[in-house]
Amino acid sequence: MIKLHDKYFKPFITATQIDEAVTRIATQLAEDIGDEIPVFVGVLNGSFMFASDFVKKYPNRCEISFVKLASYSGTSSTENVKQLIGVDYDLEGRTVVILEDIIDTGNTLQEINRIFKEKKVKQLKIATLFFKPEAYKKQYTIDYIGMEIPNKFIVGYGLDYDQLGRDLPEVYQLKEDHMINLVLFGKPGAGKGTQATFLKEKYNLKHISTGDVFRYNMKNETALGKLAKSFIDRGDLVPDEVTIDMLQAEVEKNSEANGFIFDGFPRTTAQAEALDIFLSSKKMEVAATIALEADDEILIQRLLERGKTSGRADDTDEVKIRNRFDEYNEKTAPLMEYYQRQGKFHSVNGIGSIEEITERLCAVINNL
Ligand code: IMP
Ligand code: MG
Repeated sequence: MIKLHDKYFKPFITATQIDEAVTRIATQLAEDIGDEIPVFVGVLNGSFMFASDFVKKYPNRCEISFVKLASYSGTSSTENVKQLIGVDYDLEGRTVVILEDIIDTGNTLQEINRIFKEKKVKQLKIATLFFKPEAYKKQYTIDYIGMEIPNKFIVGYGLDYDQLGRDLPEVYQLKEDHMINLVLFGKPGAGKGTQATFLKEKYNLKHISTGDVFRYNMKNETALGKLAKSFIDRGDLVPDEVTIDMLQAEVEKNSEANGFIFDGFPRTTAQAEALDIFLSSKKMEVAATIALEADDEILIQRLLERGKTSGRADDTDEVKIRNRFDEYNEKTAPLMEYYQRQGKFHSVNGIGSIEEITERLCAVINNL
């Protein structure tokens, strides 16, 4: 996944698929045109890459030129397609082939037809690499189509989002539903905190560590914090509704986030159900649950090492560490099943360098 300005895009058409489509159009055109020398006319800016690759694949002699058209933003009327660079040579009697990167509504194509009809060309053919049939509103024949695509915004291979993305060798599609809500599992020492820091940067997520949220609310004596404390003081467990209310407040505080990393919650199946209900009330859902897996013995070494400097007493006692692992295994087993049933459970190998583990996590997220 990539970010351009404020939006996220996911891989859609590979460089190989583009290459095949360009080759197909070039071969077919060469067959149809034969010995005659055509004038290819690329429509700038979007078609610069297509035009460049196309003429390299065209097996016969040809000429190439460009026009530059732009539509005024905010309207789709044909009068608003403006000619910025016109045709600068004599096309009378020539076979002209327009090379378009993409045909969407067809407004630009209409303007092209108007411009070239005046040039007394022998014949005008239209070739476009991409075509959105659901968006097309005109009747003009499109002679060559590289690929039909759904009516979704794309970037790459010449196409831009507000001038960015033209340089990409493959095509990406706008990710409209880009809420990425993750539940992160991992034994103490598995590196959840470290990885969450990278993931929230990369995907613009908000990391919600339930422990931190509790401490924050109690320290600042919020209504929910006081409520939670009243249960704790009585030696009772804080009811799930109270925890959910705290998480809800965090979610609402961070409405610009592209999603949330839930860490430390849910710990029970009942909590997982409560989280699902809460998220769906916000038209959100858990996209994936990821468990960072690591061998107990390796984690114990890591924690004991950490305990030497962290001052956390529970990191210095191997027996206590093993107890925490047992508790983790007991609690998460039913949760894993819960998310497995939803097809949302992913296990990631947590052994390796920080970068390697981040890469494995990103591979899961990019596939969502
Ligand atoms: P038209 O709607 O067929 O006139 O297309 C107008 C222009 O809009 C195209 O030449 C592109 O420059 C641009 N365009 C249409 N669809 C897309 C897209 O999905 N991504 C980027 N630019 C697009
Ligand atoms: Mg264009």
